[in-house]
Amino acid sequence: MRTRFRSCWLVPLAMWMAMSLSGTVWSAEKPAAVFEGQDTLLRPEGYREWVFVGSSLGLRYDENPAKEQPQKPEHFNNVYINPVAYRQFSKTGKFPDGTVLILEIATLETKKEPGLQGAYQKDFIRLEAAVKDSQRFADGWAYFTFTEKEGKLKDKSQPFAKSACYDCHHSKAATDHVFTQFYPVLRTPSQK
Ligand code: HEC
Repeated sequence: MRTRFRSCWLVPLAMWMAMSLSGTVWSAEKPAAVFEGQDTLLRPEGYREWVFVGSSLGLRYDENPAKEQPQKPEHFNNVYINPVAYRQFSKTGKFPDGTVLILEIATLETKKEPGLQGAYQKDFIRLEAAVKDSQRFADGWAYFTFTEKEGKLKDKSQPFAKSACYDCHHSKAATDHVFTQFYPVLRTPSQK
């Protein structure tokens, strides 16, 4: 009898604990894209704690590679995705509304000295973002830069014209405008 009475309290206690726990999780996952007005995106915060999906070195589409300057410095491109979108994509293979991908560009520094060689990322110089929001943007995706000048960031940004960013992502990216072909972490089962 006594044990029964005690266990009665365990159920509401467990429910209370579950509710407060889910509350904590919910508040930690506030929207990754925060807008001012219709389409001004505020610089996403905390993206270094998101999921790191890949890094590339000097990767770009260039119609006339022959004309390129051979001594042009290469850059590392680091890409992150917000955790909520990552979880959804892993389950469904689709990017939900509210997906934010960050492209952070870093300078490359090479070392060639006795006992040490190779390349590493030195300074972060540019920050760009892709946001999926079908309610806000007729094409589903919009593209932004937070680079005021190399190494200096701005706090908010207006979307680029379609021809500047969207068109290339639309025609060349493997999965819904995202270059998953270059991100091993975002390969869907059929691409593995
Ligand atoms: C000619 C093609 C092309 C154009 C134009 C282009 N991109 Fe991309 N973008 C790429 C490629 C290739 C990647 C793959 C990742 C990398 O750069 O390493 C990429 C990746 C990205 C990513 C990471 C997420 C994703 O979608 O894969 C963001 C964010 C991004 N670009 C923003 C922009 C912005 C902002 C513009 C316009 C100023 C732009 N891009 C214009 C080719 C393009």
